[in-house]
Amino acid sequence: MTTTIFLGIESSCDDTAAAVVRRGAGGAEILSSVVEGQAPLHAAFGGVVPEIAARAHAERLDYAVESALAGAGVTLADLDGIAVTAGPGLIGGLLSGLMLAKGLAAASGLPMVGVNHLAGHALTPRLTDGIDYPYLMLLVSGGHCQFLAVEGPETFRRLGSTIDDAPGEAFDKIAKLLALPQPGGPPVEREAELGDPKRFALPRPLLDRVGCDMSFSGLKTAVLRARDEIIAQKGGLTVQDRRDLCAGFQAAVADVLAEKTRRALAAFPAPVIAVAGGVAANRTIRTRLMAVAEATGTRFLAPPLRLCTDNAAMIAWAGIERFQAGARDDASLAARSRWPLDQTAAPVIGSGRRGAKA
Ligand code: KG4
Ligand code: ZN
Repeated sequence: MTTTIFLGIESSCDDTAAAVVRRGAGGAEILSSVVEGQAPLHAAFGGVVPEIAARAHAERLDYAVESALAGAGVTLADLDGIAVTAGPGLIGGLLSGLMLAKGLAAASGLPMVGVNHLAGHALTPRLTDGIDYPYLMLLVSGGHCQFLAVEGPETFRRLGSTIDDAPGEAFDKIAKLLALPQPGGPPVEREAELGDPKRFALPRPLLDRVGCDMSFSGLKTAVLRARDEIIAQKGGLTVQDRRDLCAGFQAAVADVLAEKTRRALAAFPAPVIAVAGGVAANRTIRTRLMAVAEATGTRFLAPPLRLCTDNAAMIAWAGIERFQAGARDDASLAARSRWPLDQTAAPVIGSGRRGAKA
């Protein structure tokens, strides 16, 4: 196999990222990966502000690219192509990335390949562990929750997904209603470790329905009701009340993800199940998923967290895969705020936040 080196550019939400990845006979190597988060710029607003994100990407992307090239010890002349996230995501940020990629491609004569951000996440286990197709992917982030049968660089079959909130979004909302900091996953997990997961009888949404679709919005409402009941009775929450609410919530999410993963593996008995997305960092959830994999003799893979969350190395890699399959894009490549991986799957009602981090 000849060696292929790609620059990847990612700007679909609130991380300005650039990376250089090489694929050769010995496998894949991340030569550099620069991720500049924008969290401080959005902190005061309780969420990502699209206009602020777009401006920050426009201001910082070229520095990210310069630093990724320098970090990899290469120049544009050493590259075989440029990969850029073309969607789904916030349109202003996507446009910043696309404009830069198109400019670089035009100036250097390098080929350019547009990448679906979700494909970047879904193909990451091939970058990190060199696994073969097919495999099952559970993408659990702040904006997404879906099971994907991954059969090729552009062949994804959605086996199930959330019909409302993503689990990370639910963790964030629970943190908000319990006055814990954002992003909510890590503090809720810390509180949950000290709580009693059985004290509150919280629902396990959609477990009574066949298939792999999930729902987390009702669970959030149930936690809100339990909280308000305590406040009505006692005038406030004790530290232990908060810990128990967190533990009950986390146990419910873990139960739902574990059971739906069991079903997804039954529907698609792949040799490997891989997880990606920030929620995959949760130790309770991870342990439960590992147990499900073990029970079915399936290999469990969780890429390192910095590659589970948004980055440009996954975009460079997905670009290399598309490029080697013959894909080329040109200056007409458009940004797409919505871009489902499985074009044949029926749209689900309100799946994840609109234009949210994917
Ligand atoms: O993948 P990610 O960095 O961004 C995207 O949404 O694409 O995921 C961020 C989400 C946030 O909602 C955050 O609260 C959640 O992942 N998260 C966690 C944990 N760490 C991060 N959720 C549960 N437990 C954690 N330890
Ligand atoms: Zn993402």
